[in-house]
This record gives sequence, structure tokens and C-alpha cells, in this order.
Amino acid sequence: MNRLVQFATIAAFAAPALAQSAEWGQCGGQGWTGPTTCVAGTTCVFSNPYYSQCLPGTAVPTVTPTETPTPTPTSTPTTTAKPSSSSTATGTGGAAPTAVIGAATGPGLNKYAQAAGLKYFGSATDNPELTDQPYIAILSNTNEFGQITPGNSMKWDATEPTQNTFTFSGGDAILNLAKGNGQILRAHNLVWYSQLPSWVTSGSWTNATLTAAMTNHISNVAGHYKGEVYCWDAVNEPFNDDGTFRTDVFYNTIGQSYIATALQAARKADPNAKLYINDYNIEGPGAKSTAMINLVTSLKAQGVPIDGIGVQGHLIVGELPSGIEQNLAAFAALGVEVAITELDIRMTLPSTPALLAQQQKDYQTVVAACKAVSACVGITIWDYTDKYSWVPATFSGQGAACPWDANLGIKAAYNGILAGF
Ligand code: G3I
Repeated sequence: MNRLVQFATIAAFAAPALAQSAEWGQCGGQGWTGPTTCVAGTTCVFSNPYYSQCLPGTAVPTVTPTETPTPTPTSTPTTTAKPSSSSTATGTGGAAPTAVIGAATGPGLNKYAQAAGLKYFGSATDNPELTDQPYIAILSNTNEFGQITPGNSMKWDATEPTQNTFTFSGGDAILNLAKGNGQILRAHNLVWYSQLPSWVTSGSWTNATLTAAMTNHISNVAGHYKGEVYCWDAVNEPFNDDGTFRTDVFYNTIGQSYIATALQAARKADPNAKLYINDYNIEGPGAKSTAMINLVTSLKAQGVPIDGIGVQGHLIVGELPSGIEQNLAAFAALGVEVAITELDIRMTLPSTPALLAQQQKDYQTVVAACKAVSACVGITIWDYTDKYSWVPATFSGQGAACPWDANLGIKAAYNGILAGF
């Protein structure tokens, strides 16, 4: 372990009458207005400028901000089996501890993910959320999150709103947050049918002109972030649910080869970024998963660079597909890494204790499936809190899909994730 340690004990002389943070609760950080002392048996430990936390014991090592390592953009996927389910983050064996429902943080999702052999547990975020200090404090806690995905700001409409004019301020802000925290960044995305500016969707293209515009976009965007990101969702959602190719502007103009061309351009722009194809409704076996297997098999046979399959994981409480682990293993057998890239598990509102308990089980099922497949490198939730979930705006009457509620309090789903690890 090459990390230096710092002990930051803030609680020692606290007046007993003041409110104290519970074990695992927040006790300091920029913008924090809550208690700065901890309950007996725990110590307020500095984690980063945004976050201090009440940890069990009297002195716990943490990484200081200046000692936070910059994430290595790439590393090879794990090929060895992950630790057995009896191992824990503390290495003591036995069942994982549970978080206090309603607390801001718990034993640590990223900590337990890494102890289970994953590279990271992460969350999506978006630029309007960056001014929400309590939200950022939790997102920046590397016990909880070792990885961030920008939910919107690296997409085509954000980065190239008019042809050949590039804006990176939104994406840069999220990359800088991740770098400052020592978190990996999954970059999202380069070629997708949605969130395209109208000059792309409404242009009069030929195969040659659209190929040139697409490769120019990729070389500029992936080139701007060269060396800074762990991976790119290079091609997003190329399939219909029946496994046929989605007939978007790229497919209709260029044909299926737009995928290989995009991957080759991305590799050229950032040779060290892992290149993923990312899609939804490929969690379990079925026509769409088979189509993904066929595509990746064909790309590999042609020598086209492809390093990973992203399984989004936008799921419904009580309706998980069966065979998730076997499906992830089938993807991994192609010689690529696998990641759960956009996990959330929604329900019809209002939430009830029964729905929240089922959601806890469902999160555990997905996490356990990833843990069981050695090539499954990480899990990203599509924002960690119901406060910023995309679900209610898209699915009327549904929501409560995230492991933290809209008040930034932990839900039972959190403990399902811990149990899955
Ligand atoms: O940028 C405009 C802003 O100018 C305007 O004021 C505002 C008013 O509503 O809308 C803003 O655009 C919104 C955009 O997010 C940025 O916030 C769009 O309306 C909204 O539809 C868009 O939603 C995003 C969605 O992708 C679009 O498909 C979600 O935030 C984002 O979480 C979601 O993410 C996708 C993944 O990229 C791919 N997989 C599915 C996933 C969920 O849909």
C-alpha cells in the first residue's frame, strides 16, 4: 500500500449536548452545515475537501487530498476469479455490515466493490447538480464511489452543437471533479442516435460526408480527453429490442459499418481508452443480447478494436430478467470486459415497504451477477439519488429507482448492493 495516512480527529472535545453524526455519517466538508462531531466509538475522519465521515474506531487512515492518486486511464481487465463471497472489505470474513437507512453514507459501496474484485462502483452525474454541495459531498466520497460518468455533457449535442465547433466546458467540469477526487471517469458517449444536434439528424448526407463528420466528431472529442478517461461508450444503443440494427442516421446512411468505423476512429484518437458498445435490455439472454454477441464476434474477427460490452441496467422492481450472470459470462467469453453502466431499478409510485424490500433484493441480484463474472469490471448507477434520477420525467408515475432517496438518505437498496458484494 503506497498511500500515506492522515488522522484527522475533530470530535475529541465536542460538547455532549450538540447533535452528533451517526456511525458512517458525514461530519465535515465544504458546504457541510450538519454536525461536526461523531457518536461515541467513532471518529471524524477527513476523506476529501468535500467530505469527512464518522468511522468506527479512534483513528482510521485516509488519503489526503494532495496524496490522492490520479486514476490510471487504463489497465487490463481482471482475468482471475474474484474473491469468494466470504471475503469483505475489512478482510475479516463474514457478512457485510449494513448501512443505517436515511444516513448520508454507509460502509462504502466502492470499498466493498473493490474488496469483491471489481475496479469500481460509480455513479452518473450531471452539470446542474455540481452546485448541490451535500450531493457533491456524497458523490466525492471515494468509499462510496470510485468512478463517475457524465450523464449528458460529453454527448454530441453538448460537445459539437454546430458542425466543427466544439465545447468541452461541461465535460471538463465533471472530469476535473473526478480527477480531484481520484475517481475513474467512464466517458459517455461518441455515437448515438439520440441527443444529436439537428445539423446531424437533418443534414443531407452521403456515406462519405457523414463518415467524415462522424470521424471528425470522434477525433475531436475523444482526442480532447485523450489519456484522461478509463473508457468510452464509443457506440451507444445500436440495436432495436428485437436484435435488428436501429435505423438511425448513421445506419441509414453508412450501413452497419458505421460501428467499425467509429471504433477505429476512437482507437486512433485515444489509444489507451477502452472502447465499449453500450446498450439496454441486454441484461438477460434474448434476441438483443444475441445480436450484441454476434456483432462483437464479427468485429473481433475483422480486427476492429472493441474492449467492452456495457450493460446499462435500467430495470424494473420485481421484473428482473433471469440469467443475468450467465448472460454476462457469455459476453465475457467473447474476450471483452463487461460493465453494468447505468443501473437503476424503478417502481410504480408511491414506494411502499414491500417495493423497497423487493428493490433491495433486485439490486443484490444484479451486483452478485457482476461479482460472479471475473470480467465484469464495475457497476455504475445512473445517478445515486432519486433527487436527480431521469426516471420520473421519462416514465410517468414511476421513480424511486436509486439507492439514495430524494433527501440524500440511504434506502434499503444500498444494503442490497452491499449484500451482493
Ligand atoms: O439541455 C436542455 C436544457 O437546455 C433545457 O433547459 C432542459 C429543459 O428540460 O432540457 C435539457 O435537456 C435535457 C437533457 O437531459 C439535459 O439535462 C433533456 O430534456 C432530457 O431529455 C435529457 O435527458 C437525458 C436522457 O439521457 C436523454 O435521452 C438524461 O438526463 C440522461 O440521464 C439520459 O441518459 C441516457 C443515457 O445517455 C443512455 N442510456 C439511457 C439513459 C436514460 O435515458
